Amino acid sequence: MSSSIVVIGSYVQDLTFRLPEFPKPGQTLIGNFQTGPGGKGSNQAVAAARTGVKTRFIGAVGNDAFAKVARDFHESEGIDSHLFEKPEHATGTAGILVNDHGENEIVVALGANGRLSAEDLPETLISNAGIVVTQLESNLESTHHALQFAKTNGVLALLNPAPMRDDFPVEMLNSVDILIPNETEFSQLLNTRFPETHGTFDETAINEMQPQALHELCRSFKVPTFIITLGSKGCFVSTEESFYFVDPITNITVVDTTGAGDAFVGGFASGMIQTGGDIRKAVGYGAIVGGLSVTRSGTAPAMPQKQEILAQMEVSGFSI
Ligand code: RIB
Repeated sequence: MSSSIVVIGSYVQDLTFRLPEFPKPGQTLIGNFQTGPGGKGSNQAVAAARTGVKTRFIGAVGNDAFAKVARDFHESEGIDSHLFEKPEHATGTAGILVNDHGENEIVVALGANGRLSAEDLPETLISNAGIVVTQLESNLESTHHALQFAKTNGVLALLNPAPMRDDFPVEMLNSVDILIPNETEFSQLLNTRFPETHGTFDETAINEMQPQALHELCRSFKVPTFIITLGSKGCFVSTEESFYFVDPITNITVVDTTGAGDAFVGGFASGMIQTGGDIRKAVGYGAIVGGLSVTRSGTAPAMPQKQEILAQMEVSGFSI
């Protein structure tokens, strides 16, 4: 397995408002504002790069002030960043609300991210990677193209189907080696993939299922490795050989869960590189990276540094 990660996906400038409770329809509330680098793809790249594994990011931005924030931030993080400029489109933005329970609500305007084209993804940028990481906050055609190219060239193809979209082409799943949805995205995937039998499946149904039945549902997608992230309950792993739960880290104070899924995905990809493809260990490593990320506010800036990860591994009695 090659020793580098390529993340293909979104850079988004996060515009975050903190307030005690989410506003009700028609209500105006006073809150605190903060802006910083975000976007699911970029967050995953930052999480991976901070673990010390060589990380490349491919995405698209506009020709505006937020694009400069993206370029400067990636440089400071040591990411091999390829940000294609789409001058007729704004850099992606997200309006994020975070309440005092650490929960969030997000609206994303894709902007330039939606314009990343297959031509922006030269094969030489992907073919020497160990793993390609994608999400759905980008152009769907180029994401599909990248997964197909990875899968047919012996590079592990990972899809984090976030945010799950109505226009998601289910054929994309044929090009995926590792699928990482959260509970909500998993139920949306089921409803999209098997509308006749699972048209009204929701997260409650997933939480009430026996592990064997959940495993069989995952297997019905025919994706070799399935990891469902379950927030504070850890995650469920279904592979062609077995299924199991991986616990989250405990004794942490949750400040902001925004970007925790991205931290897990970036950490998991790094764990796969560091262990030469040991899924159980990579999931454990991802759980530590994800768990540490919720202990402070923000998305990309909240990703843990390698020293913190190592310290937490010792506390958890976990090694890779
Ligand atoms: O997953 C969190 C991310 O989703 C935020 O950084 C925001 O940009 C949205 O893309």
